[in-house]
Amino acid sequence: MCGIVGYVGKQDATEVLMNGLARLEYRGYDSAGIAVFENETIKVAKSKGRLADLAEKMKQEGKPSGHAGIGHTRWATHGEPSDVNSHPHGGGTVTIVHNGIIENYKVLKDFLIKKGRVFESETDTEVVAQLLDYYYVENHGNPVEAIVKTLKDLEGSYALGVIFADFPDRVFALRKESPLIVGIGEGENFIASDVTAILQYTKKYYLLEAGEIAVLSKQGAAVYDLHYQKVQKELKIADWDVSEAEKGGYAHYMLKEIHEQPESIRKTITPRIENGLPNLEECGITPEKLLTFRKIHVVACGTAMHAGMVGKYVIEKLAKVSVNVDIASEFRYREPLVGEGDLVIIISQSGETADSLEALRLSKKLGAKTLAIVNAKGSSIARETDMLIYTHAGPEIAVASTKAYMVQIAVMYLFAFELALAKGQIDETECRRLTSVLQETPEKIAEILANKEKAQMIASELITADSLLYIGRGLDYALSMEGSLKLKEISYIHSESYAAGELKHGTISLITENMPVIAVATQRNLFEKTISNIKEVKARGAKVILVSRADYQPEKDVADMQFILPDEEDLLMPMTAVVPLQLIAYYTAVLKGTDVDKPRNLAKSVTVE
Ligand code: F6R
Repeated sequence: MCGIVGYVGKQDATEVLMNGLARLEYRGYDSAGIAVFENETIKVAKSKGRLADLAEKMKQEGKPSGHAGIGHTRWATHGEPSDVNSHPHGGGTVTIVHNGIIENYKVLKDFLIKKGRVFESETDTEVVAQLLDYYYVENHGNPVEAIVKTLKDLEGSYALGVIFADFPDRVFALRKESPLIVGIGEGENFIASDVTAILQYTKKYYLLEAGEIAVLSKQGAAVYDLHYQKVQKELKIADWDVSEAEKGGYAHYMLKEIHEQPESIRKTITPRIENGLPNLEECGITPEKLLTFRKIHVVACGTAMHAGMVGKYVIEKLAKVSVNVDIASEFRYREPLVGEGDLVIIISQSGETADSLEALRLSKKLGAKTLAIVNAKGSSIARETDMLIYTHAGPEIAVASTKAYMVQIAVMYLFAFELALAKGQIDETECRRLTSVLQETPEKIAEILANKEKAQMIASELITADSLLYIGRGLDYALSMEGSLKLKEISYIHSESYAAGELKHGTISLITENMPVIAVATQRNLFEKTISNIKEVKARGAKVILVSRADYQPEKDVADMQFILPDEEDLLMPMTAVVPLQLIAYYTAVLKGTDVDKPRNLAKSVTVE
């Protein structure tokens, strides 16, 4: 989704803004722009396309030069991607960048047109710029008053970076729903959609809350509430390092992040293990509290929802507690049967996914307790949940989630072990044993990563396919969902995941020699069943790629290609088995020449529903 940066200080603002926007590229965008004070005049440069297109345009038409400004990467919502619709947008003396959606923009636009205002673009953002200017003029040039009045009129979600032509040394910012932070430097200050945009300049930041207005100058950043009172903000220090948000010699962020998985697991689980047993007390989870939950719901989107699917199998098997897994956009509009005595687990890498955030709010309203598993520190979901487990994957830049999924499932395992122990479904010895098996997974993943050429060979067999099927049973089905999503989102090859036993009920009619099947068979008790399903598709001409374990081998010729996994306990298999699926997706995309880290039409952080 859209990315925002703002800067005021001593450095070349254009350079700082462009660097910041480059760090936000991963969020997904289709156009970009900046507005910089050149002496006392606001100079705007914007362009449809990538940041490189904007840089090229500035090379030809002149680069704004100054020490204060705002920048934006746009992911189109109102109005197609075009130069005109790109941000920044102006209205009189006001220039703004915006992330979010203004739901009542039509009413506001009609009001402004009646007041004689003329619009250049189709965007809801221009309406906000014009409204700000309208109130600015009405309030005799007081920017904060104009912002407060505007804010009261706006319905929807927004993070806004604002500059006023009459205040060339100031950047203003406000937000509701959409994220925005204020970065605090030495003689320079920033605004940004997330910390990755400013890490190379400062690690200090404030989290801006809804109803707060930040006023930045070179000297400092003041935050006011709607009654013009100064708010004392807590200074946060980012524990992410700038190198974590860089490629570090890898061809793509996705490949780097796949390789970071062993370390991400260690960082996430080690602080939550004490004397060989899970201990989630610092996250607000105690054995006594766990005993109060009758039912568990996991609500999330995309890959995070797939992590929830793994969690369901593991929790139900070990702790014997019923788990529903829901897609957040369905859950929030379905009048879900959730209430007191229920635990709702929200999983989210960004902590800003609009549907997941609303699902969390709805669950709280219905009387359920909420537990969030979140990677981005200080994000909205992290702030609003009752209990919180941070995953420590560090910044995930590639749009396709890999290491965040890995730590989400690692946390689901720890949670399931602790719950099963609390419920008396496993004893301490078994809990200790399972925990130690989980602790060994990083080495096993490293072993797989050392043999990634096999995934490359498999990928070379897939690139000519128009469509693919992933099949599996039980935990392998949950994994198939993730494998299939990963492949289609970055390689653009159509693919579906299917419960292997369900094929015969319709889908098998799709099988031809042109539809490869990736079968995941890591579960010993289901192995023969899955092999039977593989034989069924093989008999109908499909090329079969089998991801399975070393100690269970099918007869010769059942699979055309095989990825053999190191030995592992069945229950923990998803931790290792997802790695070849990620690698196969990655190499297929590379061989197809797609934009691996920033696949078309996708955004990393989906802050609109
Ligand atoms: C796919 C992917 C998405 C996200 C989904 C939820 O690779 O990354 O499906 O998992 O958009 O995002 P978060 O986890 O930020 O809530």
